[in-house]
Amino acid sequence: MTTKATTVSKATDLLTLDELGGDGIRSLFETAAAMKANPAEFRGVLTGKSVIMLFEKPSLRTRVSFEVGVARLGGHAMFYDHGSVKIGERESVKDYAKNLERWVDCIVARVFKHTILDELAYYASKPVVNALSDMHHPCQALADCFTLTEHVGTTDGVKLAYVGDGNNVAHSLILAGAMLGAQLTVVTPPGFEPQFDILRKAMAHAQKSGAKITVTNDIEAVEGHDAVYTDVWVSMGQASQQAFRLAAFQGYQVDAELMARASRGRSKPALFMHCLPANRNIEVTDEVIDSPFSVVYDQAENRMHVQMALLAKLLGDTN
Ligand code: CP
Ligand code: NVA
Repeated sequence: MTTKATTVSKATDLLTLDELGGDGIRSLFETAAAMKANPAEFRGVLTGKSVIMLFEKPSLRTRVSFEVGVARLGGHAMFYDHGSVKIGERESVKDYAKNLERWVDCIVARVFKHTILDELAYYASKPVVNALSDMHHPCQALADCFTLTEHVGTTDGVKLAYVGDGNNVAHSLILAGAMLGAQLTVVTPPGFEPQFDILRKAMAHAQKSGAKITVTNDIEAVEGHDAVYTDVWVSMGQASQQAFRLAAFQGYQVDAELMARASRGRSKPALFMHCLPANRNIEVTDEVIDSPFSVVYDQAENRMHVQMALLAKLLGDTN
């Protein structure tokens, strides 16, 4: 990971996933698995460390998994609600970052604009962790790929279909999959494909890892996959586009028929994945999300384990 010029050697950020790379992610997964199996061994890793959590948008999983994770490692997490006053509105992002770095050891932030994270990370000498932006959701993708290693055994060569909006969650999943050698099929309605700069980066990672990335509008491309992933069709901050989006995504719902198509030719039924929160019976039917092959709550639990491993790497003495 990149070292900041302005601070001690351990201060790094996690804004996309580029900071980690495939080897960094695999090493993080080893720590996460050890923490999940033997939590008692890691109780003092963040003793004396404080983490501030700045949230411009609502959250259940990210907030709770970070707060509980920090507590389990012996540290202290503070939640700061930026729902009404966005970061950079009351004072400059520079002043904000320069104050925070005097008190806390790490800044976890959920923002509307990814550029705010870039600015925070530029000015703060302490690590900044992306807790979701309009462009990326790296902690989610880490948990998702860790969940795949638990259920499929590996991410190398895993056949993963992402169906729906080419959004922040899709971007991070594509980047993580590309770094870890996955075979990704991304199926979106026309006009909702992932951004080209993300796809270009993913292609570069894929050349090294052997990953394969296919982007299509053809729903039949889900055939023969280990897992099918979807996310909401209307993300936080897109409420004004709701009617237009719901119309555009017709035909892309993950239902039993789609899962049967995905499972065709496989020895086991395809897993169903979702970052949550879900809009039940919109992007996924109750029947699918409640099926025995749905791993959505494992994904949610694993948010905590991978984030604990990440914080130990960024702040602890285990890196
Ligand atoms: N998946 C996820 O980030 O959930 P929250 O929005 O509840 O944090
Ligand atoms: N794409 C969704 C993910 C929520 C975890 C959003 O940005 O609202």
